[in-house]
Amino acid sequence: MGKSLLTLALCLLLSAYVSASASDVEHRANKSSPAGILWATAKDKSDLLAAIEPEDDYAVEGDASGEFAGGFSSLEGMLQWAIGHSDPEKLKDKASDAQRLSPAELNKRQLELKELMEKLKIPSDAELMKIAINDLNNSSISLEDRKRALNELLILVEPIDNANDLDKLGGLVAVVRELDNSDPEIRTISAWILGKACQNNALVQNQILALGVLTRLMKMVKSSSREEAIKALFAISTLIRNNKDGQELFFSVNGTLMLQDIMSNVSIDIRLQKKAVLLVADLADYQQEISGAAKHAVVSDQLLLKAVVNLLSSNDLDLQEKALQAVKSLLQLPSTDALDLKNFCDLDNVLERIQEQLWEMKDHDYYAEEMKNLISEIQIIFHRKSEKNAGFMGSNLKE
Ligand SMILES: *[C@@H]1O[C@H](CO)[C@@H](O)[C@H](O)[C@H]1NC(C)=O
Ligand SMILES: *[C@@H]1O[C@H](CO)[C@@H](O)[C@H](O)[C@H]1NC(C)=O
Ligand SMILES: *[C@@H]1O[C@H](CO)[C@@H](O)[C@H](O)[C@H]1NC(C)=O
Ligand SMILES: *[C@@H]1O[C@H](CO)[C@@H](O)[C@H](O)[C@H]1NC(C)=O
Repeated sequence: MGKSLLTLALCLLLSAYVSASASDVEHRANKSSPAGILWATAKDKSDLLAAIEPEDDYAVEGDASGEFAGGFSSLEGMLQWAIGHSDPEKLKDKASDAQRLSPAELNKRQLELKELMEKLKIPSDAELMKIAINDLNNSSISLEDRKRALNELLILVEPIDNANDLDKLGGLVAVVRELDNSDPEIRTISAWILGKACQNNALVQNQILALGVLTRLMKMVKSSSREEAIKALFAISTLIRNNKDGQELFFSVNGTLMLQDIMSNVSIDIRLQKKAVLLVADLADYQQEISGAAKHAVVSDQLLLKAVVNLLSSNDLDLQEKALQAVKSLLQLPSTDALDLKNFCDLDNVLERIQEQLWEMKDHDYYAEEMKNLISEIQIIFHRKSEKNAGFMGSNLKE
């Protein structure tokens, strides 16, 4: 493609993308954020990526492209590819031009862009993925190029069709290989790609599980690099979510012990604790859904329960709420023993303390209301369960 054509295409692309991202940001920031902020702060490619990508949380579905989700998805790949092949200074100028356009003008440009893409035969996502994978396969490329290829894949795997193609193109093998790279940033992006590719996608989950990476990811969770640990736990979560085989494997390699270690370690990053407690709730919910699961008991382990209950005393309200959700899910498992929660974890008293603390809270009215409701629900389930246990000692497994 000629240089000037490329610049033209990018200019159009950016208009469309800036408007999409800015409206998304604006929407999330409750209209307090001026449209310019995205580009004013995006100094280089990685900042741009950070601006486009919301902080990943495995419970949140990816919707970075806002209203353009779906029909517009392959443009993300193009944008990423094009940015990798152009002059960042020029792009910044074009981007600030694009911000001055009205919505009608932006729409018009978007149509022009579609026509242009057809004329130019801009590469498809599959072709872009092939280029990136080919680079990853090439042992003589520089570290920077390797990172660029991975960052491209990170965006390209988001649409489900692309994720489904990844294995066919040799992409999973190539990305898994990078989990052993000596550079922590490379390992981090690779774990992130795997996590994203298999999010709500049983086919890709099973393909990744078959490559035997679960224990590797579990080791990465112990990394001294926080980002690496967080992305590895993100990948583990999406890999085993709603996946029976994945969860059995996870339990068999002491996955619950890993979660327990994270939740009970006071010096660990709180984001990691939030992800761990979310995963506990998720595992409990799924284990309850599948009938005759002998593995129930693994999630009802005394020490795991205690680690979750201890998080209820956290100063972080978000973590506290996530822990409450997990307690609720755990309580609903037949294998969870109400006596364990009462005697070993002191759940009664812990809940009372939180209630007192909520009464004292004035600034977070709505939040406090939610928490109070959640606690009431937990208390009802807890007491019903305790009575049952008292009536039919030892028969709780047959429920
Ligand atoms: C990359 O290498 C793998 C083998 O490691 C191969 O299966 C795949 O076809 C290669 N893909 C590309 C695009 O070079
Ligand atoms: C591998 O990368 C090197 C350095 O960028 C390049 O010269 C070479 O052509 C690449 N090989 C393949 C097969 O793409
Ligand atoms: C799991 O933990 C048990 C007891 O702590 C230990 O004996 C076993 O070797 C561990 N298994 C794996 C796969 O780490
Ligand atoms: C707790 O986490 C810190 C920081 O990640 C780590 O250095 C330490 O080894 C952990 N402690 C235990 C007991 O696992």
